[in-house]
Amino acid sequence: MTDKPNSGGQVFSPMTISDNDFRRLVTFVQSTYGIDLSQKRQLITGRLSVTIKQLGYSNFSDFVEHLLKTRDEKEITLLLNKLTTNYTFFMREQDHLDYFRDKIIPDIVRRHEKDKSLAIWSAGCSTGEEPYNISMYLFDYLGSQASQWDTRVLATDISAQALATARQGIYELPDTVPAEWKRKYFIDQKNGRHAVIPALKNNVIFQTFNLMDPIRFRRKFDVIFCRNVMIYFDQPTKDALVNRFHEATNPGGYLLISYSENLSPNTPYRRLAPATFQK
Ligand SMILES: C[S@@+](CC[C@H](N)C(=O)[O-])C[C@H]1O[C@@H](n2cnc3c(N)ncnc32)[C@H](O)[C@@H]1O
Repeated sequence: MTDKPNSGGQVFSPMTISDNDFRRLVTFVQSTYGIDLSQKRQLITGRLSVTIKQLGYSNFSDFVEHLLKTRDEKEITLLLNKLTTNYTFFMREQDHLDYFRDKIIPDIVRRHEKDKSLAIWSAGCSTGEEPYNISMYLFDYLGSQASQWDTRVLATDISAQALATARQGIYELPDTVPAEWKRKYFIDQKNGRHAVIPALKNNVIFQTFNLMDPIRFRRKFDVIFCRNVMIYFDQPTKDALVNRFHEATNPGGYLLISYSENLSPNTPYRRLAPATFQK
């Protein structure tokens, strides 16, 4: 690998990782988190070299040895924060969110007319834009009725760092957020950043959750959003997760993935529209 000058003009050369340590690390991350790093050797050395030096290791071998032996939570968190991509933004795949507004919300609201309680999960919510965005769509649809409904969205991620940002709820907003929503759902911090209003914040319950674990939430879901998450998983991991999602979905409930993903043809869900599936 060639040395690359960093922004300060210094030369930074990533540490090398042996074939054996690479295999051990890939196997650990794959079996514990479902994330497939087998083609990401450069990403691992590039993104982790500085971090492991800062942790006091002089080579990958000692780091991998210690990690696998102790399963040190702090080191695992650091590792995941470096290796997963938390990239997300408001109004991502807006056509899909509009489909949710036009077809899915009316259906689940009709189904829950009596108990007035919706169960929605943003699985792999990253820094929170998706679950807050979902909440805006729900509030807008229900209008003055919203206060009579339980619209709380469960939002989970494996990355503690992403969830900390999500809980803060302060963002630079892209132009795609409608001006009316900027006024209605955010408080302008006068520094180019906007804080979500308390009602929106209270509508999202953030929790750390590893999607490789059994799904044991209190309720089944009317809608599960799992967009741009399974791209990191290999096919068997993805299929097993989709089966667990299916068990955790109410009859007639929905699974939404991203436009760039697909489910295997033998998925237990029925394909309804692009990236949209129904139980
Ligand atoms: C690219 S973001 C997607 C955010 C949002 N859903 C969207 O579409 O914009 C992917 C998220 O998946 C999370 N993730 C990856 N593997 C995970 C796992 N095993 N369990 C839970 N979350 C995971 C990452 O931490 C990251 O925040």
